[in-house]
Amino acid sequence: MREVRMARSDQLRRLLASYAEADDREFRRTAAEMIADERRKNHRNLADDLERALNRNRRAGGEDALSLRPIPKSRDERPLLTLTKPRRDLAELVLSEETSQVIEDVIRENLSRTALTNHALRPRQRLLFVGPPGTGKSATAHALAAELSLPVATVTLASITSSLLGDTARNLEAVLAYAEQVPCVLLFDEFDVVAQDRGTERDHGELRRVAATLLQLMEELHGESIVVATSNHPRLVDSAMWRRFDEIVGFGSLGQDQLAALLDLRMRAMRPTFDRDTWARRLASLSPAEVELVCLDAQRRAVLAGSNDVDEDAMEGALGRMLERRRLLQDETTQP
Ligand SMILES: Nc1ncnc2c1ncn2[C@@H]1O[C@H](COP(=O)(O)OP(=O)(O)OP(=O)(O)O)[C@@H](O)[C@H]1O
Ligand SMILES: [Mg+2]
Repeated sequence: MREVRMARSDQLRRLLASYAEADDREFRRTAAEMIADERRKNHRNLADDLERALNRNRRAGGEDALSLRPIPKSRDERPLLTLTKPRRDLAELVLSEETSQVIEDVIRENLSRTALTNHALRPRQRLLFVGPPGTGKSATAHALAAELSLPVATVTLASITSSLLGDTARNLEAVLAYAEQVPCVLLFDEFDVVAQDRGTERDHGELRRVAATLLQLMEELHGESIVVATSNHPRLVDSAMWRRFDEIVGFGSLGQDQLAALLDLRMRAMRPTFDRDTWARRLASLSPAEVELVCLDAQRRAVLAGSNDVDEDAMEGALGRMLERRRLLQDETTQP
């Protein structure tokens, strides 16, 4: 009995301390432990009540309350980031050998943080992902978070920059302060939106300051969070910026073998009867995201034809559709 009570008071102490320090992980771990104890003691109703109380904040979609800390907001009350669970696993992505090697190294370093810090080293934590649209930059940021069991905090660039003009630096500070307290993958998706306008007339000075502020804050970032910025236009990010990232990771089109692997992966749920290697060659000019869309379209066609077999015709139809779609987009962008 005495032992039980001791365990209990230790748990309460940990619960309160983790609340005071806004240490989400410890708080949830302790709470889960306490609920499990109640269940073990057959206090089923109490355990259910506690579980409900713990998860009351869950959104309708079933997402856990991911953090105790309130999401930072702009002065006009717009959330500066969204916190989500990672949407992709590394196993679902096909990356070039070089890219997967860097990503794996980054994961290993961050998992072995203590070993590194004991030698006055630190893992690579500030990453710039560059490459054309649809090559897996955002997806890899999510996969990285999944591997490290971190949530993804996607910065809402529009709220950061378009609210009261003088507030941008303050907003960025709030976002980085949040990442210092809540371990996460802090994702500046399409970062060039900030970087890009540095040379243009409008808001010239302001945006320059934003980019400079961000880089400086990023350099001073402490803690376990990882900053990932993605960009389509590496040339727009000037060299002063490049230097501040620990690693620059390139994303691009895939080779034959990787395209074949991607076809296998995306056709897993069906029975492909088309010649995989021929199709890997035929899809060579598409981005991985476009290949995925072709696969989905081909599967839809197969299902509507009442079959589990994805055949040559289904692929042919889906590719035709994709090329048409591309043509329309190109016309659109080349028109005056
Ligand atoms: N290398 C890849 N392997 C497997 N699937 C991929 C790959 N790249 C993209 N995809 C698929 O396409 C979707 C869209 O890709 P993603 O949003 O990651 O591209 P992106 O590089 O961030 O593009 P953008 O520059 O337009 O933001 C992903 O969710 C994923 O399903
Ligand atoms: Mg993206």
